[in-house]
Amino acid sequence: MTFSGKIGIFDSGVGGFSVVKEVLKLIPNAPIVYFGDTARTPYGTKSPEILKRYALEDANFLIKKGASIIVIACHSAASCATDFLREKLDYPIFEVVTPSVNEACKLSKNGKIGIIGTRATIISGIYERLIPLKRSDAKVFQRPCPLLVPLVEEGWLKSRETRMIVRKYLRPLKEKQIDTLVLGCTHYPLLKPVIKEKAGKRIKIVDPSKEVSKLVKNYIDKEGGVSTSSFAQHEFFVSDLPAHTTEIVKRFLGKKIPLKKETPKD
Ligand code: DGL
Repeated sequence: MTFSGKIGIFDSGVGGFSVVKEVLKLIPNAPIVYFGDTARTPYGTKSPEILKRYALEDANFLIKKGASIIVIACHSAASCATDFLREKLDYPIFEVVTPSVNEACKLSKNGKIGIIGTRATIISGIYERLIPLKRSDAKVFQRPCPLLVPLVEEGWLKSRETRMIVRKYLRPLKEKQIDTLVLGCTHYPLLKPVIKEKAGKRIKIVDPSKEVSKLVKNYIDKEGGVSTSSFAQHEFFVSDLPAHTTEIVKRFLGKKIPLKKETPKD
């Protein structure tokens, strides 16, 4: 028996393609159905109540499109809506926060762990709640970095301005002597070179898109792996398709892909 369903991945917009990329690295023929809520993005500025509602609509959309497991790629949604989705839906749900907590607790030597993310993620306090459960000696230091998402979407991945902003965001975390940093947002893996440079060699980086993809791979392997598939079997939906969307997606995925515009209510 092989896994015959689809891996449903959702995000507030195009950032979740960082997760799609990692899933495809580990499972090259993975059958993926993606939903990016580009009409209602960003999620990082929204309240937990709204994020729960949006996340449920997004997940239900994927289920209608044939998803048999759900991956919450969006950190803001994962931070605020995972328990809610698990209560509402009888499907396996994977998300970016828990595997990142586990990896950070494993990697850190001094127990000082830094988290960067959107305001919604940081305000949710999810890392401050989960990390001490895993490691009682750990201390969590957080910093919202709201300017980084637009910089990535503009393609300013290595510019002087981006380097300055990253340095400024990381400074208070470095002053706390963190030795591990979680990139708690879909967009930050694209800034990894600059973040690594500004964080310095001493700080280990946790990339949630990689961590959640390992869990998805384990699950699919336990289900017997996937049979044959092709890129043509993937379906990538977005709720709005402004002109520049394909270009931004290319930045995440390294290639142009066809996007279909459809909303959960269509
Ligand atoms: N996908 C969001 C996240 O990972 C970032 C973009 C947004 O704010 O919607 O939190």
